[in-house]
Formats: sequence, structure tokens, C-alpha cells
Amino acid sequence: MQSRGGVLRGLVLAMCVGAALMAVNAAPAEAQSAQWGANYFPNVPLTTQDGRKVRFYDDLIKGKIVAVNFIYTSCKYACPLETARLAQVQRLLGDRMGRDVFFYSITIDPDYDTPAVLKEYAAKFDAGPGWLFLTGKQDDIDLLNRKLGLYSEPNPSNPDGHTPHLLVGNEVTGQWIRNSGVDDPRFLATTIGTWLNSWRTASAPTRSYADAPKIEFAAGEYFFTKHCAACHTIGDGDRIGPDLAGVTARRDGTWLTRFISEPDAMRASGDPTAKALSAKYKPAIMPRLGVEEVDVAQILGYIDTQTAATRKAAADKSRSATAAPAADLTAVMDPYVRIQQALNLGKLDGIRERAREVAAQAKALGPDAEAIRLAATAIDRPLAIAAVRTAFGTLGDALIAYAKERHAPLGAGVKVAYCPMVRKYWLQRGETIQNPYYGQTMSDCGRFVTDLPTVSQSPGSGTAARSQQEQQGRSQALADKPAR
Ligand code: HEC
Repeated sequence: MQSRGGVLRGLVLAMCVGAALMAVNAAPAEAQSAQWGANYFPNVPLTTQDGRKVRFYDDLIKGKIVAVNFIYTSCKYACPLETARLAQVQRLLGDRMGRDVFFYSITIDPDYDTPAVLKEYAAKFDAGPGWLFLTGKQDDIDLLNRKLGLYSEPNPSNPDGHTPHLLVGNEVTGQWIRNSGVDDPRFLATTIGTWLNSWRTASAPTRSYADAPKIEFAAGEYFFTKHCAACHTIGDGDRIGPDLAGVTARRDGTWLTRFISEPDAMRASGDPTAKALSAKYKPAIMPRLGVEEVDVAQILGYIDTQTAATRKAAADKSRSATAAPAADLTAVMDPYVRIQQALNLGKLDGIRERAREVAAQAKALGPDAEAIRLAATAIDRPLAIAAVRTAFGTLGDALIAYAKERHAPLGAGVKVAYCPMVRKYWLQRGETIQNPYYGQTMSDCGRFVTDLPTVSQSPGSGTAARSQQEQQGRSQALADKPAR
């Protein structure tokens, strides 16, 4: 880790080249802004550590000076250091944080890094105003990561390939540079605070910061949490008032809008639905909250999205409950775990024999375990350790998919673990993480997961690889864009 500092500083200097792009950079600020504006940055939805919904471009990037990095809270390597550095930079920037400078730390492990987990993490590093920790859908985060040029293909044999990068930019002037996230805090603070801020002192074109759009946090959720959640749930059953899941389908739109803004007037006017509701829920009563009509529209939009989300979760649950009956994986698991342990130690001894045992046991389980058998057979070949690690990932996915679908017990003491760096699961015994993808270089990289995950069974994930290539040109261009 310590030896990395020098290398990284070298990178910082190296990234400022890119002769072809110099010309672009010399263009007027407006033109650049258009170039790297809404048409470049994905406007994907994200959720902050406080549970607020935001859009990446509209709410986070547009009109601002920002620093963006990717983290995950279970990381024991670069991320804590990087976050600690940013905390120092935050202090150096003082009250500009949250005013014209914003930090965004986006998790690459959204399954684990829920808003609550991120909130705790943010508190640990004293993250103040203007520093958001964000989670979202894995696909959206992957897209962002690629577009921002911060993505590096997971490479088990080279953990250093995951150099923590920090993208620093000014959306208004279109200046974007990639820094090392673990660089000197003063250098970072100067870069962010002064260098990228040159548009303020530039003669023309001048834009007042007052023109910049203010952050519109998803108003619907905000209003709902503030005004309604004390009495209503969306999909969690009745509380003081009725469960509002599906209410937009159940009631007429005009009625709803009016009822939410002036329930008292509606009851007084003798509206039959309002009267029936009040009879059912009394002594509780829907209060007049002084919510404006525009805000009601936002709230109803939020209720709609939440309704869809809870319905989907319920459907997924009932689907998995009616899945095929259980079968036991214990016999397969013993040789599998021996392979995992060997890979953790970086040894290939006996691996082919163990793979053959897994294949034989999988065969005994019948045709449904064919994916396991094939994946195990693929390991029983003269392969280099990197190829074995990759094939081992496929085998783990096959086992997990089988266990999940058939509710098959994994065997005594077997746990599921996940490595956010290679984005792969594995199964192991014991209380200590023993990463089979990195071996001893980063043995404790990863975390245990409680529920069996849903894994995609297509090895190598063709579409991801393809879109990675498609993005490469553009994200590379962005990342290497010179700052002067
Ligand atoms: C203090 C508790 C309370 C608060 C706060 C509250 N409600 Fe209600 N709400 C009720 C009760 C009780 C009812 C049942 C009808 C009645 O009493 O008038 C109700 C009924 C409703 C209904 C009708 C449900 C149906 O099945 O048709 C809607 C819609 C509704 N509330 C929306 C809201 C929204 C939106 C907010 C926030 C802006 C909100 N409520 C805030 C207590 C509350």
C-alpha cells in the first residue's frame, strides 16, 4: 500500500496528456459544457445516505464543482484511505463544501451498502454538508463508473489494478480530470478549489452561480416522509391511516388530489368515500396538512413507484416459495471447499482431483445439477492459476444458483461470501474471509452475505463486456482530458 503513493503521483501527471483533446479544451466554456453535459452524464437515479432520491446529472453534477469516487464500505484496502483523504480535503475546503463544491462517494456494492450502512460510514469519517454517499441499482452504478472513466476490469491477479481514482470536474466549464484518490490532500484541495474554479474569474462567458439550478431532491419522497409517513405506509399495511399501496389505482385522480389537500372540506361536503373512510378509521382522522397541489402530484408519483416496488418484491417472494423441492449439496461442498482453500493459499495441488469429485457428486444429483458438473469439469484441465480462479467463480455461481432454486442446504458451516472487487461470490467454511480470487495478496477482501444471492449464470457476462468496450473510447477520452 505504502509503495503505491509514488506510482499514483506519477499517474496524476500522466493523465494530463492527450494531445488530440487539447483543441477541445481550448474551446469556449459553453461549448464544453454542452459536450460533457446532460448528453454525456447518465442521469441515473441514486439514493443518498439519508434515503433521499437524486438524479446523477440533474441533481448532483449540473452547474457544480464536484469530486466523484467509487467506494464500498466493506473494503479494507484503498477505500478507507481514500475516504480519509477526502475528509481532509473537505476540511481544507471549509464552508465551500455544500455551497459550490460537492463530493460524491458512490458504492460499487449496493447490495450491502444500503443508505443506513452508508450513513454510518459517512459519520465515521465526519462527512459534512455537501458530501453525499450514494447507492443505487448495480447496473446504473456500473454505467456511471464506466462513463466517468473510473472503471477498471476486475483482475484477480493484480489487485493494484484497482487504483482508487477520483474524478474532479466542473460541469459549467467542462473541465474534468482524474486524480488519484489517495493523493496529497492539499494538492486535491487546490485542484478542486482553485484550478477548476477558474471560470469564476474568467472574463467571458461569465455565469453567475445563482443561475445554477438548485438541488431538487426527490420531492415526492421528501414530502411523504415528512408529512405522511407518520400515519401511512406504502405496502406495509394499515397504521393510523390506510395502507396507500395502490391508492392511485383504487381512487379517481381528482378525488385523490382534492382529498389530500383538503380532506376536512371533503368530509364536510358529504363526499361518500371520504365519509366512509373516516367512519372506518375513526377516531383517527386524515388532517389537513396544507400540502400544495404541485406537491400532491409529487407525493402521488412517489406512492406509485413505491407501490410498484413492493408488488415486485412480493411477487419475487412468492415465486421463490413455490420453487422446486430441496436437494442436498453437502457431498459436492466438501471437495469444492478444498478447492477454495487451495486457491486462497495460491496452490494448485490436488485441485483437479477435487474438481473431478465435484463433477461426480454433481452427476449423482441428476440432470438439474448439470451446470455444476460442467463447471467442475472445466477445472479438471491443465490450467494456469488465473484461469482456475475464473473457472472456480463459474462453479460457485452454478452451486449458488442450484441451492437457491431448490432450497438446497449448503452443508454444515458453509457460508456465502462476496468480493466486491471482482464482483464474485464463493462458498467457504470458517469465520474468516478467505478470498479464492486474490489468494494471499488480499485474502480478507470480501464479506459474508446472509441470503443466497441471485447470480447470473452466463460466465464472463457478454453484454457487460461489450458495453464496456463501447464505452471505452468515450470514458477514456473523458478521463484523459487535460485540465489546461
Ligand atoms: C395524522 C395521521 C395522518 C397523516 C399525517 C396523513 N394521513 Fe392520510 N389518512 C389518515 C387517516 C386516519 C385516513 C382515513 C380517512 C380519514 O380519516 O379521513 C387517511 C386517509 C388517506 C387517504 C385515503 C386512502 C384511501 O384508501 O382512499 C389518502 C390518499 C391519504 N390519507 C393520503 C395521505 C397523504 C398523501 C398524506 C401526507 C401528505 C397523509 N395522508 C397524511 C391519517 C393521516
